[in-house]
Amino acid sequence: MAQYVAAIDQGTTSTRCMIFSHDGRVVSVDQKEHEQIFPKAGWVEHDPEEVWRNTREVAAGAVAKADLHVSDIAAVGITNQRETAVVWEKATGKPVYNAIVWQDTRTDKIVNELGALGGGQERYRAKTGLPLATYFSGPKIRWILDNVDGARERAENGELLFGNMDTWVLWNMTGGPEGGVHVTDPTNASRTMLMDLDTLQWDAEIAGEMGIPVSMLPEIRSSSEVYGHVREKGALAGVPISGILGDQQAATFGQACLSPGEAKNTYGTGNFVLLNTGTEKVMSENGLLTTVCYKIGSNDTVYALEGSIAVTGSLVQWIRDNLGMITTAAEIEEHARQVEDNGGCYFVPAFSGLFAPYWRSDARGAIVGLTRFVNKGHLARAVLEATAFQSREVIDAMNADSGVPLTALKVDGGMVANELLMQFQADILNVPVIRPVVAETTALGAAYAAGLAVGFWSGEDDIRNNWAQDKQWEPALDEAKREALYAEWKKAVTKTFDWVT
Ligand code: G3P
Repeated sequence: MAQYVAAIDQGTTSTRCMIFSHDGRVVSVDQKEHEQIFPKAGWVEHDPEEVWRNTREVAAGAVAKADLHVSDIAAVGITNQRETAVVWEKATGKPVYNAIVWQDTRTDKIVNELGALGGGQERYRAKTGLPLATYFSGPKIRWILDNVDGARERAENGELLFGNMDTWVLWNMTGGPEGGVHVTDPTNASRTMLMDLDTLQWDAEIAGEMGIPVSMLPEIRSSSEVYGHVREKGALAGVPISGILGDQQAATFGQACLSPGEAKNTYGTGNFVLLNTGTEKVMSENGLLTTVCYKIGSNDTVYALEGSIAVTGSLVQWIRDNLGMITTAAEIEEHARQVEDNGGCYFVPAFSGLFAPYWRSDARGAIVGLTRFVNKGHLARAVLEATAFQSREVIDAMNADSGVPLTALKVDGGMVANELLMQFQADILNVPVIRPVVAETTALGAAYAAGLAVGFWSGEDDIRNNWAQDKQWEPALDEAKREALYAEWKKAVTKTFDWVT
């Protein structure tokens, strides 16, 4: 009897494979970073072939590290950076262009033109739950079809396929040009801006307006069912692939936020707060997204409200890689601990414009409040505080949309190892912040989706029972101080507006 489930987590900066036991504990992990390609200001690309090579390597690595045989693995799940768009040749598997990453803002003009057809930013909100923004895949596909020689014609002839990273990985794992399965799940599809949230099908009208042939889009199946088996020889040969969840929805699932009203915040490249709203689709009036949370087999669709923040962990990386101020991400906390507070300095990292709750593609990053007093420590604090302030903004929006104030926040992702940040997050939200034992809940959520489909786990109760608390931070900042800091942050945010005209 196979005793483990594997998950491929194809993220923005790296790809990893994690293997989990029945009690939801990590048995092994292997991870590889891929190149971030910045051809121009505001453009971000990945090489899909590099990502696929890394996927195979980390799968082999994780199985080898745990000293397992393929027969020990019951199923594999896929989770991924969402919205990132790949278009490739069906016959060869060759991408026609690099993957255009979710952070990329090159589709600004396309987005404005679509909005000008009527309805502005709200044009597709009722059907898709999303504001028109550069973040989503549809306009990225349109850009590729408009800008790669012959691509539109080839797409119309059925020679090209589109996929987000889940589909790209699944298609390759299941044989690529030799019978690769061209499928996605509703959590990923709901981020293309091409899917109807009620029917969970592609919307021909929107696709038509964006100039995207529906025939190049993957089939939308549930988030938990057997899509196919690993075709290639190697570590996972023959294992069923039976779960797909976009990474933020996977983290929500892995955090056992399975009932309406339960929410999590994942601290990755960006931050993403998701609130489970059950089978009810709540339309936001405060700058959040309505998205599919998960659809397990033939069960009803579960929806979520989402606050997406583009830049949080990637700001720490930027400080490391572009400024050389630190050599490892962990050092940021050491610097921040040298000072009492931010010294009046605020860093608004609007590198991809601002996502929720503002949705302003005209914004660009700013450091404000500088005086001769400000030193490295203050800047390090401002970097960390930016994550907490941005999270507060989307949680305020969530409280307003749902009418039920959040009473505690479950957190996960790489940055939750940062104690100073976690305490400040509790302080600025004025609610307890709770970290689970397994903080890498993204991969765990995908493993759960895959394991449920093959009967490895029997139901949601298994997921609830496996969840365990590691640490809780209590708020400890008085109200006047808290609100004064937050007001200064809000003022800092306004300084980033109207930069790109
Ligand atoms: O929507 C983008 C999100 O899915 C990316 O997540 O963790 O790869 O930064 P991450």
